[in-house]
Amino acid sequence: MDTVLSAENIYKTYNSSSGKVNALNGVTVSFEQGEFYAIIGRSGSGKSTLLHILGGLDRPDSGKVTVSGSDLFAYSDEKMAIFRRRHIGFVFQQYNLLEDYTVLNNICIPLKLDGKKADPDFLDEVSGMLGIKELLKKYPSELSGGEQQRVAIARSVLAKPHIVFADEPTGNLDKKTSDETMALLKESAKRFGQTLIVVTHNLEIARTADHIIQIEDGKTV
Ligand SMILES: Nc1ncnc2c1ncn2[C@@H]1O[C@H](COP(=O)(O)OP(=O)(O)OP(=O)(O)O)[C@@H](O)[C@H]1O
Ligand SMILES: [Mg+2]
Repeated sequence: MDTVLSAENIYKTYNSSSGKVNALNGVTVSFEQGEFYAIIGRSGSGKSTLLHILGGLDRPDSGKVTVSGSDLFAYSDEKMAIFRRRHIGFVFQQYNLLEDYTVLNNICIPLKLDGKKADPDFLDEVSGMLGIKELLKKYPSELSGGEQQRVAIARSVLAKPHIVFADEPTGNLDKKTSDETMALLKESAKRFGQTLIVVTHNLEIARTADHIIQIEDGKTV
């Protein structure tokens, strides 16, 4: 199988008011094309930090991240942002939707920033699959948490990224909505051949993954 993403010896320290925090202490991990990975571990173990570094949202103090054969951190910030928009989808725990934009504009933002337009057929397919067709003209504040989450997923897949990261995508959802959300993420990953990397506290979800990665004190165990 093809490795699409790998991280070697990643270290990351934060300076906080109470001194230095070693968030990542030499993480080495790799991901195969089209597989579903669950990242689990206690609160504060470094999961979000790792996800941000793997997705090029933040730089490590040392270590290397390779995406489809390219050294991610050899890129300038600008190149990294372009790379991210084209190859990586992110579903954040707090959805990160823009309040002043309609649902339709929200899900098209990554493409627009790239000077591209959404393929209408694909937009139709994705919004149908995620059940948000009737919401496209609404604003995020008019939606429930579950609906906002589905919009965030639509935004993450519309640019057809190779890799989709989701940080606690079901954290605030009830069991039924949580199950539906995970099913949609998995279905979209399967349909579009994406590698899916999900941080979750939910062991039931983790058990459905192809691989489980456990983080403890900034290291994989
Ligand atoms: N911006 C920051 N400044 C200072 N310390 C930080 C910062 N972000 C994270 N940390 C610290 O780094 C460590 C790892 O944080 P991280 O957010 O990666 O944990 P996590 O595993 O995602 O936790 P959770 O399950 O609660 O989301 C924690 O000790 C946290 O307090
Ligand atoms: Mg976190």
